[in-house]
Amino acid sequence: MNHKQALKHNIFEIISQSAEELQLDCFVIGGFVRDYFLERGNAKDIDIVAIGSGIELAQQVSKNLPHQPKVQVFKTYGTAMLRYDDIEIEFVGARKESYIEDSRNPVVEDGTLEDDQNRRDFTINALALSLNKDNFGELLDPFNGIEDLDKGIIRTPLDPNITYSDDPLRMMRAIRFATQLNFTIEEKSLNAIKKNKDRIKIITKERIVVELNKILESDTPSIGFMLLEKTGLLDYILPELTALKGIDEIEGQRHKDNFYHTLEVVDNIAKTTDSLWLRWAALLHDIGKAPTKKFHKKIGWTFHAHEFVGSKMVYKLFKRLKMPLNDKMKFVQKMVLMSSRPIVLASEVTDSAVRRLIFDAGEHVDDLMTLCEADITTKNPKKFKRYHKNFKLVRDKIEEVEERDRVRNFQPPVSGEEIMKAFNLKPSKEIGIIKDAIKEAILEGEIPNEHEAAFQLMIEKGKELGLTTA
Ligand code: CTP
Repeated sequence: MNHKQALKHNIFEIISQSAEELQLDCFVIGGFVRDYFLERGNAKDIDIVAIGSGIELAQQVSKNLPHQPKVQVFKTYGTAMLRYDDIEIEFVGARKESYIEDSRNPVVEDGTLEDDQNRRDFTINALALSLNKDNFGELLDPFNGIEDLDKGIIRTPLDPNITYSDDPLRMMRAIRFATQLNFTIEEKSLNAIKKNKDRIKIITKERIVVELNKILESDTPSIGFMLLEKTGLLDYILPELTALKGIDEIEGQRHKDNFYHTLEVVDNIAKTTDSLWLRWAALLHDIGKAPTKKFHKKIGWTFHAHEFVGSKMVYKLFKRLKMPLNDKMKFVQKMVLMSSRPIVLASEVTDSAVRRLIFDAGEHVDDLMTLCEADITTKNPKKFKRYHKNFKLVRDKIEEVEERDRVRNFQPPVSGEEIMKAFNLKPSKEIGIIKDAIKEAILEGEIPNEHEAAFQLMIEKGKELGLTTA
């Protein structure tokens, strides 16, 4: 069957023409072809394999394009890239590769299309469409990749032990594709990942995180985390999560398995937010439970201050994985630290508690509520309903209190300047005491969040402190 309709974009004609001018064969291969058959929408990355020099082909294509776009050449890898019409097109010469034990850098020799397909990660990524004049649009599928696409199977073209050992990042990719596409990793392949898991150590943290993020951004991230756990990769990447596994029982008292609970929370939140960082917060919200777990004869299992301990662990974890230590990390820390606050509220929704919650969570109060709603994983339908109803009450109350008191981005209604002027003070601790008293009174609902009332309170507090007005 011919698949010319996949190659409607005029770039393919131009590549085809350029290849003919150089008298070499070329094919579009990899993700573009896979996603075409999966009907996953227009790919913005196109990989071209040339039977000959990929760099020369890229240069020829550039010559034939309007405005002759710049060709970026990566000599070490024998690849070249250019941009056209918002698409990134990468050119590579067909290769036969063998890898050295402790490195991802291959020793490269020229090869045929089939050699090149052989050295790719999965059968579904080895599909190629011809760009040659005589068979333009013909599918070349030596490993039955189309059948694997239909059946939803991740399988390697070669013995999986070779494919994964050649490039251990592929173990993460296998799990990532299984998660994104809801595919099954073939058993032989899964066993090979288990066997080769230690080789993940040669992969940079940054590349591992790219795959982790793609897993987290999928519809059902738990698929990926279960596979990471099952294969032993998770122990290396996120030991904080595997430490949550298991249920302990002492004197008939059990606690829940916090690993599976966490995965449920992540799947829940994936239904209500696309925010990668909120999804990270869901993944890490209970990591403090492993180091704080204790059994007490009278009260059973406790995880005292796990939110605080967990938020400290977030920093170390981000640092270890070379993730950004910026406001994203701080956001995740804050969510973890505050993750139990609304739950406490749900049993008794008072104005002052809601005001404090808004004050502490600031602009992230809605995200915090989303996290806490996702955290409801009880299997008891009555409780499930009740908790959600209570959170709805909290959300309504947040809106009501917020409208009245505007404490989300709290600015003290009386400034330090004003206090100094009123009492003729130099900078001193009394100013802090008065400011705190005003903030507390507003949060407790004793005075409204307004200048007039705050000013009055300032005068009172000043008197109590023995200050006289100027
Ligand atoms: N590839 C591989 N081994 C890798 C990475 C990539 O064999 N470790 C091959 C695959 O054939 C893949 C192609 O290179 O299809 C392009 O890789 P890449 O652009 O990283 O991924 P895509 O498959 O295009 O998928 P996605 O865009 O979802 O990452």
